[in-house]
Amino acid sequence: MSATASTKKKIAVIAGDGIGKEVIPQAVRAIEATGAPVKFTHFDWGADRYLADGTTVPPDGFAMLARDFDAILIGAFGDPRVPSNIHAKEILLGMRFKMDLYANVRPVRLLDSSLCSLKGIEPKDVDFVVIRENTEGVYVDSGGIFKQGTADEIAVQEDINTRKGVERIIRFAFEYCRDTPKADGSARGSVLLCDKSNAMTYAGSLWQRVFKEVASQYPQMKAEHMYVDALCTQMVRDPRMFDVIVTNNMFGDIVSDLGAGLQGGLGMAASANIHPGKTSMFEPVHGSAPPLAGKNAANPIGAVLSAAMMLSHLGLIEESSRIEIAVADAVRARQTTQDVGGPLGTTEAGNGIVRRLEKA
Ligand SMILES: NC(=O)c1ccc[n+]([C@@H]2O[C@H](COP(=O)([O-])OP(=O)(O)OC[C@H]3O[C@@H](n4cnc5c(N)ncnc54)[C@H](O)[C@@H]3O)[C@@H](O)[C@H]2O)c1
Repeated sequence: MSATASTKKKIAVIAGDGIGKEVIPQAVRAIEATGAPVKFTHFDWGADRYLADGTTVPPDGFAMLARDFDAILIGAFGDPRVPSNIHAKEILLGMRFKMDLYANVRPVRLLDSSLCSLKGIEPKDVDFVVIRENTEGVYVDSGGIFKQGTADEIAVQEDINTRKGVERIIRFAFEYCRDTPKADGSARGSVLLCDKSNAMTYAGSLWQRVFKEVASQYPQMKAEHMYVDALCTQMVRDPRMFDVIVTNNMFGDIVSDLGAGLQGGLGMAASANIHPGKTSMFEPVHGSAPPLAGKNAANPIGAVLSAAMMLSHLGLIEESSRIEIAVADAVRARQTTQDVGGPLGTTEAGNGIVRRLEKA
């Protein structure tokens, strides 16, 4: 039975800038190849639109996305023709902040041993997730510059941590741990708080106290702690020790890129920006990579796996896992772009995934 227009999930697609325009079409093709009941609406938000008419986000843009769509799939924003990157800030940070997408979920999963730069590491050894607070921290743009351009110049960048914000992301991490098994089907068992509470004592104290309080409500899961510097060392010494990591906006940004390195690079990493019960957004972890743009060289897998996360979030579990299986098979067969050892261009790597989905 085919889905009627009203039962189809409505997806807003914003490819954005640079390689976003090349990888997102491959993600859309992969979804279409699964036959998932979805309807796409494309938006031209990005540097071209900004340079043409000065629009970053149209009036009512975020309210329209929240009202009219079930999910949003985006590429990347950032263009050398807009040195201030104002459009990227207003679209991407605007979406995260104004739509209150407070949980940035960044899985770190190795699909094939050949992709990992560490010796003797198998896919089963790298299957953890970074849950990054997405609406606070140093990204709220609070601070200022005093006596600019003088020898006495002072720059202040404030780190904002609210009790509500800290509590909801820690709770999200425990619930993710409870509800989301690993790729091999086994249950997750521990949540690790990553901070720098030995140096950032005020923010650290809040995170530590709230973590203990929330952890006590989930006694079936282990609650652990590591300073961010030690965590970076351990991530490349033994990634097996990690399961669910919860952390603030900036540390999450950095440690998840380190995690992408364990998976084969930025081209492989997927992410979700979630507010449970509200329209959420899915995007590859990488940026617009201007030097790669227009060369048909960008790896589409991060975007394709972000699309799979989106389908799973929408309850289209079978379609989501079919995409994951097709991607893993293409990686094992080296039908990939050059950054992960294959000989293909972006479109051809997308073709390989689509062919596998159509066959299945
Ligand atoms: N979410 C976003 O939209 C986002 C995220 C990060 C950076 N940016 C923006 O993107 C622009 C470029 O930033 P950057 O160079 O620091 O980061 P980037 O992620 O765009 O690229 C860094 C490097 O990673 C590699 N890479 C990234 N994606 C790849 C892919 N799909 N396939 C193969 N290789 C890939 C390339 O070698 C690239 O030079 C900047 O304007 C930045 O602000 C946007």
